[in-house]
Amino acid sequence: MKKNVIAMAGVVCMAALLTACAGSGTKTATTAADQKEDTGKLVMVTNAEFPPYEYHDNNQIVGIDADIAKAIADKMGVELEIQDMAFDSLIPAVQSGKADFAAAGMTVNEDRKKNVEFTDTYAEAAQVIIVKEGSEVKTPDDLTGKKIGVQTGTTGDIYADDVENADIQRFNKGMEAVMSLSQGKIDAVIIDREPAKVFVKENEGLVILDEAFTEEEYAIAIKKGNTELLEKMNGAIKELKESGELKKIVDKYITAE
Ligand code: ARG
Repeated sequence: MKKNVIAMAGVVCMAALLTACAGSGTKTATTAADQKEDTGKLVMVTNAEFPPYEYHDNNQIVGIDADIAKAIADKMGVELEIQDMAFDSLIPAVQSGKADFAAAGMTVNEDRKKNVEFTDTYAEAAQVIIVKEGSEVKTPDDLTGKKIGVQTGTTGDIYADDVENADIQRFNKGMEAVMSLSQGKIDAVIIDREPAKVFVKENEGLVILDEAFTEEEYAIAIKKGNTELLEKMNGAIKELKESGELKKIVDKYITAE
């Protein structure tokens, strides 16, 4: 459909010769993601193992990112479809155009910026360290030579790589790393602060170290070059921030201590 419209626009342009042809050049650069948008639907991918940002509730994927994405889609007047996949498949899904965007508590970093475009950031985050109560690991420096659990492909995984002599155990889900820690199979888990709080609450005998490993920021990842979607999403994020809607969504899932 879209292709025909573009082709026709080209014909009209040629017929009109010099006038009004500037637009057709930009139109032909339309990406798969733009086309999905034209059909009135945005496909979001996430890894719903990351409460309170995204998790399963009955058969639904809920959480801060799901609500933010829904609010953005509403502002754009399109439907939202959410697909669940492994965290390290998210960027490839966006790059290939299989998805329009990934919203997954995803930390903005230079390496990822080479492969995807990030929207404006919408949350402050941190990597923290979870240990068993009474652990000899009391600061990030104590991680040297320890068994560290992480979720594959996350920034926790990347930072654990920098720890000297660490034995890194990679898990598909953050919760699996936490279970392994509970069972005494590993010494620590490096993971994002908000999920860490949820997991520690659900599992007795675990604590989060006061000193965070890093400070980070979350943003939504979209396909490189899809400036149209980037601008629309940034506009919507700005509105959500200014109207206080974003804070409302966060407050719904994170209760102030
Ligand atoms: N913030 C970390 C990162 O970007 C972890 C994100 C994990 N998200 C998820 N939905 N499992 O690497």
